[in-house]
Formats: sequence, C-alpha cells, structure tokens
Amino acid sequence: MKYDTILVFDFGGQYCHLIGRRIREHGVYSEIVPHDVKPEEIKLLRGKLNVKGLVFSGGPASVYDLNAPRPDPGIYELNLPVLGLCFGHQVIAQMAGGKIEPARQREYGIAYVIIDKPVGVLKGLDNREKVWMSHGDTVFSIPAEYEVLAHTKNCPVAAFRHREKRIYGLQWHPEVVHTEKGTQMLRNFIFEVCKCEPNWKIEDMVEKAVKEIETDIGDGKAITALSGGIDSSVATALAAKAIGAKLTAVFVDHGFMRENEPEFVKNVFEKFKIDLIVANEQERFLRKLKGVVDPEKKRKIIGEEFIRVFEEIADKTGAEYLIQGTIYPDRIESGFRKFSDKIKTHHNVAGLPIKIKFKKIVEPLRDFYKDEIRKVAKMLQLPKEIVFRQPFPGPGLAVRIIGELTEEKIGIAKKADKIVTEEIERSGLEENLWQYFAVLTDTKATGVKGDMRAYGYVVAVRIVESREAMTASFAKIPHTVLERISTRMTNEIAEVTRVVYDITHKPPATIEWE
Ligand code: XMP
Repeated sequence: MKYDTILVFDFGGQYCHLIGRRIREHGVYSEIVPHDVKPEEIKLLRGKLNVKGLVFSGGPASVYDLNAPRPDPGIYELNLPVLGLCFGHQVIAQMAGGKIEPARQREYGIAYVIIDKPVGVLKGLDNREKVWMSHGDTVFSIPAEYEVLAHTKNCPVAAFRHREKRIYGLQWHPEVVHTEKGTQMLRNFIFEVCKCEPNWKIEDMVEKAVKEIETDIGDGKAITALSGGIDSSVATALAAKAIGAKLTAVFVDHGFMRENEPEFVKNVFEKFKIDLIVANEQERFLRKLKGVVDPEKKRKIIGEEFIRVFEEIADKTGAEYLIQGTIYPDRIESGFRKFSDKIKTHHNVAGLPIKIKFKKIVEPLRDFYKDEIRKVAKMLQLPKEIVFRQPFPGPGLAVRIIGELTEEKIGIAKKADKIVTEEIERSGLEENLWQYFAVLTDTKATGVKGDMRAYGYVVAVRIVESREAMTASFAKIPHTVLERISTRMTNEIAEVTRVVYDITHKPPATIEWE
C-alpha cells in the first residue's frame, strides 16, 4: 500500500514538525525532508510513497542571509503542488523575482489578514481572518504570473498563488492553533489542491514496527534503556510483544527520579515477562556531581554517566541489538536540523550515543510523532499513568534543583514535586496541562514558623500549558489550588519558607529552569 504523502521541506523552523503532524492528523502521511532535497531523491521516494504535494516550512533565516537555505530550483519541475509558509512563502516569492524587504513594522503574534480572494488554500474563508504571524522580512510585490490572495496593513502580499501552477504562499502559520481557521487552510491544501486520499492509519505502522523488530532480532538478544517516559516505555512494550524473553530492559536510577518512580516502572513492566534490570546508582551520580552548579555541566555529566552505566550492563548481558525509542522529531533534529539554534543539551534515553558496537540499533518508533506514540501506548494497553505521563527530563530533578545537588536538596525537591502533582491531580486540572512541577531555587528567604523566625528555601511552582513544548504559557491555575500547594509545602517541608508561582511564558523562558 502506497500512502498519499505530503513532504515538508525543513527550513529550520520550529513549526516544521507541527506541519507534519497536522497533515497526519488528516489521515495523510507526511515526512520531513531537508530543505535542499534533490528532485531525483523525491522521484526515488515515489517508489514507496505516493508524493502528492510539498510544503516549504518557516525558518529563522532571512532570505537575505548569504547562507540562507534555498530549495533546489529543479523541485518545481516535478509539477507537484507547493505551499510556502512564512520563510517558505518568502523563498518562493524571492525565487520568482518578487520584492522582499524588511518590514516597516515587525509582525509577531496574532494578526488580522484581509482575504482578497478566497480560493484554493483560502477557499471558504471570510473577508477578515485571525492568523499567527512571526516575521521581519515582508513580500512587497510579486511578478505578474502570480496573484495576491490576501494582505495586512503592513504586508501587501500576505498570501499569493501562481496563476497556472499549483503554487501557494502564506506569510502566516496555519499549523498553529492561534490561526483560527488554520485547519481549514491545511485541509484545503491537502484535499482540494493536492487531491490526497486519507489512506494512512497508525495501526498499519504498529504492525509494521512489530514485524520489523521480529525480523531484525531473529534468534538474537536485545537490550533497551527504559526511563519510564512514554517513548522508551512504548519501544520496550513493542519489543516485548515482538521478542519477549529475548529482551533485557535496563532502568538506571540516577537518584533524581520523582518519588516512587523506580517502583512504578518495575510494577508496570513486570507484567511484560521481560528481563528487567534496575540499576541503583544514586551514589555514583551524586559523587560525580559534587560541587557542580553549572546547568549545562550537570546535564553533560548525568548524560555521560548514564551511558557508562548502561554500557556496563549491556556488556554483561551480551545483547547484540539495541532497541531505542527514538521518535521522529529526535531523529530529524539530530540529523537534518542545520538551521535551528541550540538552546540546551537534552538528555534523552530514547537516543543515547552508546559506544558499544551492536550488530544493529533498532528504532521501531522512528517514524512516529508524540501524539501518535500516545495512541500506540493505549493500543499496547500500557497504564494511563504512562500514556498521559507529563514529559520528564532525562536528568530528572537534577535540572529542577538550582545550584549544587545534595541529598538534602534532592529530598526537598521530591517532596515539593509530589505535593504539586497530588494537588493538581486532586483538582482534576491535569488534562489541560502540559507539565506541573516544583523547582527548588537556591534562594533563601525569611519566614515565621510556629512563632519562630525561620530561614529556608524558596520553591517555585511551574505549571504550563503547551501543545508541543516549542512554546508554552504559564497556566492560570485557580488561586485556591495554588494556596493549597503553598500551604502544604510550607507545612509539610520544614526547610521551605516561601513558595512562588512562575508566571513566565516560553519564550522568553524555557519550561525547565535549567
Ligand atoms: P525546555 O526547558 O527546553 O523543555 O523548554 C522543553 C521540554 O523538554 C523537556 N526536557 C527534556 N526532555 N531530556 C528530555 O527527554 C532532557 O534533557 C530534557 N530537558 C527538558 C522539558 O521537560 C519540556 O517538556
């Protein structure tokens, strides 16, 4: 079965994967390709996929940058429909000979566009639409073979199409929720312009993944690093289904786990009848981190030590294969993402740089997005605590404790984290939240406890809403819930004298504090 497919050209924009996911949500397969993919490579892809359209994503570059990414002009010869978004819109306009200049006024955030012609991608839209814009450069004019479909006060060519070919450009981002009719715009492109059939479904991918593991491992033995996060859990559960007793899962307890985390993971995976090894290495990690305060150094040390522990165990088991829960965005980010800025070094159990020579590294989730993984987790009957688990950073509480890590601080952070979790879940708010946790700051403040002066830690509560962690907003939690959290923390944790609520969005902040 060849899926109807839309390829998304990656110009380094943070929204690139969002476009891919939005397309798949409509039952149409989508893959991300490097922005400079050659027409011949796309022709080759046609052997396994029915490529029906191309999207040029946004990106941080300016079309005027000397090294700005460009698509191969030969791409147009394929006669496939093209949709350029934001930077993609500008690139199409520039290559066509349009005039692009820095905007008189940068547009960032919600904007209102006037739809001059509701046709093609814009079919069925009203005269004025709310969209999400984020750009400095602006298309001021476009050659005569194109027609303008929409404009804003500052942007005369906010949308265009070629008069004969199926080429479209939108200055805004239809893939983000803030663009009110973004879904309709994408649907128009997928079904009206590209004429795709929605013939892709996740069940086929799961069956394929299980078969692939069976074939790859054969009579051999495999090992997997299990963190308790959803990706490594799903990879382990899929592998258990495919190869059962030939699998060893390793859970490294570095000591920065949430309370009861190791026991929880053990309970879930005992049912799967695989060989599960829990490595209790708390002391080893703490020793390595003595005196370290720099967040990036902490991350690096934990990441490296984690790998050492895993390698030692892998060596002993004699497994020839490594199964990793690397998901689609992990893979693309490490391979193709040449134009995005690095914000912080993520440690992710799913994609460890292991030095041991395995016969093969098997990545059964390599084509899945996060929300698809959730569906697979449900299909595999993993408990809902795993399916709806909040993301938890690889270095764990270590990046939620500012300054040097000590046993005392780890103990406080665990208790504080537990209180936030319990109170949010008790109030039933968790479904709409991306993450909720406590951060133990290295600031101290004065308080009064039982009529006595107390001088203790300041704990920050971080609760955010997000769809994909690229952007996030602090959650407007009812004051009564915040009050319960603060009262419990100061009552139940002797060392805490003050609780503050983090009211910063991402950007400019990140979700984690370190
Ligand atoms: P930031 O702090 O960059 O976090 O806004 C974005 C999302 O990523 C999670 N995060 C990590 N996940 N390994 C992971 O697997 C890590 O090292 C890591 N650091 C942050 C964070 O919890 C948020 O959901």
